[in-house]
Amino acid sequence: MFEGEHMAGTTDKQLIIDGKRTDGRTIDEIRPLRIEVGVISSADGSALVEWGGNKVLCGVYGPRECIPKHEASPYGALIKCRYSMSPFASLSEHGRSGPNRRSLEISKVIREVFENLIIAENFPKTQINIFIDVLQADGGTRVASITAASAALASAGIPMRDVVSAIATGKVDGQMVVDLGKDEDNFGQSDMPIALSHRKKDILLLQMDGLLTKEEILKALDMAEKSCEKVHEVQVAAVRKIYESAALSEQKISL
Ligand code: CDP
Repeated sequence: MFEGEHMAGTTDKQLIIDGKRTDGRTIDEIRPLRIEVGVISSADGSALVEWGGNKVLCGVYGPRECIPKHEASPYGALIKCRYSMSPFASLSEHGRSGPNRRSLEISKVIREVFENLIIAENFPKTQINIFIDVLQADGGTRVASITAASAALASAGIPMRDVVSAIATGKVDGQMVVDLGKDEDNFGQSDMPIALSHRKKDILLLQMDGLLTKEEILKALDMAEKSCEKVHEVQVAAVRKIYESAALSEQKISL
């Protein structure tokens, strides 16, 4: 839900009919997810995430010299994150693109996810930049961004304590669902994006719009855990692919 948009739960439109959502999915089904890493040749790590109608590109640079220098910390790398929505990301909302309160907030919460994961103390006086551009938006861009950044950081070889996967959960037509599309996000009763670390299942991000009961929140966490498992599989397969092709070309060189 974004500034000035429709209030959660203010539509007459039925979003779930006979257990099926408007795009035919069941309540615990995620949209098609495709991840490709190594898509920006000049970046140290990168990933393109296509998730439902979302297209999110992430480029990672670093660890590199911290600029401005006075920001540098002797205790570890500074993590910087900039999330941005392109002017053409969403035809109906193009007027809201560019830096704004929403993109600043999303940049901040994503930065905090990775501050808790990256082993920053290995790289004092440096910075690690995470740039995220939403090329096409269709609900759930912050979770798609976290998913992209996690794969991009892994492809850059930046050491992390754990891998993070993320999913939006929420309440639509009185039912708890995962991976809300734009209409579900904008017109559903509640949306709650969640990011979980893979091994420890730590909650690295949890935001909420609308109203949920304690039981519904617990159910959402449970659903998120299962969905994050699926997201994680796609992330790992994408990262493994580039490491395997790098190993293959090294083999060719040594032959
Ligand atoms: O994208 P996410 O769900 O993380 O954030 P949101 O603020 O809840 O936005 C929900 C959806 O509304 C986005 O994914 C976009 O599809 C749409 N939106 C938009 O089209 N233009 C904006 N400036 C903000 C949101």
